[in-house]
Amino acid sequence: MDAISVSHLSKVYKSGKKALDDLSIKVQKGEIFSLLGPNGAGKSTLINILTTFLQPTSGKILIMGRDVCKEQRAVRPLIACVAQKVSIDNHLTLKENMLFQSRLYKLDDATANKRMDALITAFGLKEYEKQRVTAYSGGIKRRLDIAMSMMSYPQILFLDEPTVGMDIESRKAMWDTVKKIKDDFGTTIFLTTHYLEEADMLSDTVCIIQDGHELVQDTPENLRQHTHLNTIRIDLDGSENQQDFGKWISDLQFVRAIRQEQNTVYANTQNAAQDFHILNQLLVDKKIRYSSIGIITPSLDDVFLSLTQNKGRGV
Ligand SMILES: Nc1ncnc2c1ncn2[C@@H]1O[C@H](COP(=O)(O)OP(=O)(O)O)[C@@H](O)[C@H]1O
Ligand SMILES: [Mg+2]
Repeated sequence: MDAISVSHLSKVYKSGKKALDDLSIKVQKGEIFSLLGPNGAGKSTLINILTTFLQPTSGKILIMGRDVCKEQRAVRPLIACVAQKVSIDNHLTLKENMLFQSRLYKLDDATANKRMDALITAFGLKEYEKQRVTAYSGGIKRRLDIAMSMMSYPQILFLDEPTVGMDIESRKAMWDTVKKIKDDFGTTIFLTTHYLEEADMLSDTVCIIQDGHELVQDTPENLRQHTHLNTIRIDLDGSENQQDFGKWISDLQFVRAIRQEQNTVYANTQNAAQDFHILNQLLVDKKIRYSSIGIITPSLDDVFLSLTQNKGRGV
């Protein structure tokens, strides 16, 4: 049995906006699943539907085998959700915040205290116990927020953009926390992000969505494999006009998408092994000055680019 199974899910808001369009996904028990997509892709809409806050327009969703629309009461105790807005009470201490949560779940005192201590240790929050909650950094607040929602020991934890707006150190600490939840508590984790690096670092499975529909769903390794051998990197020597070169190369028939970073251009092509020679010859013929050219293992950025900007020629 899958932890989450979504088939042919669509959501049309009252405004007429179609936020999800025939989306199907599967999340296995015990994995970290990332839903990756740009702003407005439909990530929060999907999380809100999976966590029973919103009704879908059509489609079927099972959570641990239970129908989300028909068996809300059975589903709710199995899940916890950390929304983008932090839900800590600033008037309470760290422990009071956690115990308040345990009362919502009607845990007895002994269980609540045991879980709280385990979570404080696992989340590295011990050193913050004595500080005022208002003095916490954004990263620590978010970590406490997640610890609080873990008090019910949910089978599935939903995290909506858990690291948005954080500096890189706090993000890395958050990634460690998320991995720890999976390893120590066996929790299935469903998170949304618009950071490719985050999906790549954390996930067992990534689903990339855009405009409410799935572009691809696979392991990060397979996603990279997907465009393996298909990216050519050209380092210009700095004397070329970047814009002219960018236009020239993206107009080439075999180039599907490009990404430019200062003097470096990444070109996704149909068959890099073959196209590399053609491109190399074209650069020589056109007397374009470059310091190096080669085929590279693409990053998830390249995968995303090739999927979203393939000039309509299909992936
Ligand atoms: N309550 C709503 N009513 C109408 N449109 C909405 C509502 N909530 C979100 N949308 C629209 O649905 C699309 C998906 O939004 P959302 O799920 O929040 O995307 P994401 O979380 O990926 O940024 C966006 O175009 C957004 O403007
Ligand atoms: Mg969102």
